[in-house]
This record gives sequence, C-alpha cells and structure tokens, in this order.
Amino acid sequence: MLSEKMEKALNQQINAEMYSAYLYLSMASYFESVDLEGCARWMKAQTQEEMIHAMKIYDYVIERGGRVLLEGIKAPQQEWDSALAVFEHAYEHEQYVTSLINSLMNLSIEEKDHATQIFLQWFVSEQVEEEASASGVVQRLKLAGGDQGGGLFMVDKELGQRALPISMPAA
Ligand code: FEO
Repeated sequence: MLSEKMEKALNQQINAEMYSAYLYLSMASYFESVDLEGCARWMKAQTQEEMIHAMKIYDYVIERGGRVLLEGIKAPQQEWDSALAVFEHAYEHEQYVTSLINSLMNLSIEEKDHATQIFLQWFVSEQVEEEASASGVVQRLKLAGGDQGGGLFMVDKELGQRALPISMPAA
C-alpha cells in the first residue's frame, strides 16, 4: 500500500507526464505550421512516449491499491521562434522532468517504500535517454548550420525517420 504522500506525488507525476505529452503535441503542431513534417513526427512520437510514461504510473498506483485522481492539464506554449528554440525548450523541459523524478525517488527513500524505488529506477534510466535525445537534436541542428536552408531540411528528413511507439491507423 502506498503512503498518502507517495500516492499524491505519483498522481502529480501523472499530471506532469500528461503535460509533457501536451507540450510536445503543441510543438508538433507548431512544426506542422511551418512545414517541418519530420520535426512534427519526432514530436508526435515524443507525445506518445509521454503518454506511455503517464500510463505506467497510472497502472502502478492502481496495482498498489491507490487511487488515481486526474486534474487539469495546463495549456502549453504555442509559438516558438525557430526549430532550434523548440528543441532547446524540449531539452530544458526534460531536465526539469529529471528533477521531478529525482524528487519522487527521494520521497520513496524517505518513506522507505522499496517497491516504488524499484519502480522509479526505470524512470531514472529513461530520463538519461530523454535528455540525450533532445540535446542530440539541439547539437545536430547547430552542426547543420542552425535554422535555415539545407541543413534544417536535412535534419528534418532525418527526424522524420523516428518510429512511433504506438502505431496509428493510416489516415
Ligand atoms: Fe516522461 Fe520525457 O519524460
């Protein structure tokens, strides 16, 4: 059984993961508006990843006999100045999420909740990947000459190769 504190903190993390999904979907929509289809696909894949993260925590809370209480998801940013600005924002956001996961881990240690510590280990490793993939795109955009012309087109094409974690029916 989860402590009240732990249950509340896990519920907050479900909200944070759903917000992340919403933020990345907003980034996808921005990219569609400037005809960067590959960047949009990368962000849609990232949106799905975040929903998977939220569902993992949802299932865990239920499995431990807790109650999931969903709250409002705040509206994400809608406009950015450039592709580079979007990916820099994504990288910053992932660093923030890492800090949330670390706080959850600290709480599970304080609460002597060993099962939650083991559960959270997956998220600790996942955040290493999440930060690396966002900062990797930032680096590639910078190397490709930033935000204009052929370099951006090339990176967009490359990002369009990202597989969607959840396959969607053809439109
Ligand atoms: Fe759910 Fe991107 O961290």
